[in-house]
Amino acid sequence: MKKIKKAIIPAAGLGTRFLPATKAMPKEMLPILDRPTIEYIVEEAIESGIEEIIIVTGKGKRAIEDHFDRNFELEDNLMKKGNFELLNKINQSSKVEIYYIRQKEAKGLGHAIWCARKFIGNEPFAVLLGDDIVQAETPCLKQLIDQYNKTEMSIIGVQKVSEEETQRYGIIDPHSIEGRTYQVNTFVEKPALGTAPSNIAIMGRYILTPQIFKILEKQEIGKNGEIQLTDAIQKLNEIQPVFAYEFEGNRYDVGEKLGFVKTTIDMALKNDEMKDELLKYLVEKLEKISRNYIS
Ligand code: UTP
Repeated sequence: MKKIKKAIIPAAGLGTRFLPATKAMPKEMLPILDRPTIEYIVEEAIESGIEEIIIVTGKGKRAIEDHFDRNFELEDNLMKKGNFELLNKINQSSKVEIYYIRQKEAKGLGHAIWCARKFIGNEPFAVLLGDDIVQAETPCLKQLIDQYNKTEMSIIGVQKVSEEETQRYGIIDPHSIEGRTYQVNTFVEKPALGTAPSNIAIMGRYILTPQIFKILEKQEIGKNGEIQLTDAIQKLNEIQPVFAYEFEGNRYDVGEKLGFVKTTIDMALKNDEMKDELLKYLVEKLEKISRNYIS
């Protein structure tokens, strides 16, 4: 059996929902408390047993490479001050090999994955979207890898969303379910409101077989004028089974403003240094709002 050792993190998107903040700064570098979003994702990959990561970057994304590079001046400074806690924090990613490839034009997620084909070669691999954080007891990607190990077939992370939200996601038309694993009839990218075959949405974590690259090579432009990964997954599903797995955990879309704020609040409420003060602040705020609402 081929073990899942490599992961692609696509991070070359334009981040238009976060403009103007993302004009000169990658959205994947937006900080959640004291760490950039993409570091949470790299950490999930490491905890899931991934050995090599390729980050797909693009124009204006140099900060991502700088972040995962060593900064000897900073390390020396922290060492002299004896700040070993921070020293350890800034070198978390040294536990994994990280490589980079450039997507010259943001032609869509499907195209971004295709750009990494030479790095992956002929083995199954993982994909973690650069702006999706999942907080779970067992890392989300590990949950998918455990399922992959049973079937050796592609498997896509899904969770249920509200009816109104279906138009924002890739949606599955489930055939049957066993435990948390679905057999899937079709995968549909961003169905128009009221036309979704279910409310089960693709959520930024994938295990794919390398056959996807041949499909992506010929994949036509889809929704929003982009080469969509979901469209290629549907074609893959026509030649070999692609399963969907309803993973456990909270998924946060850090790539849109409200998702970003909710992520920050939730993470801060789990942080020992911040949670009491923040909770006090939130309660006071809520009381004030409800007083104004009533009067
Ligand atoms: P999104 O659609 O969420 O990212 O893609 P985006 O296009 O940057 O966002 P908006 O809609 O303009 O605000 C999901 C992931 O795929 C990457 C993004 O960087 C993000 O991590 N992506 C998207 C690419 O790498 N290349 C692309 O062409 C598109």
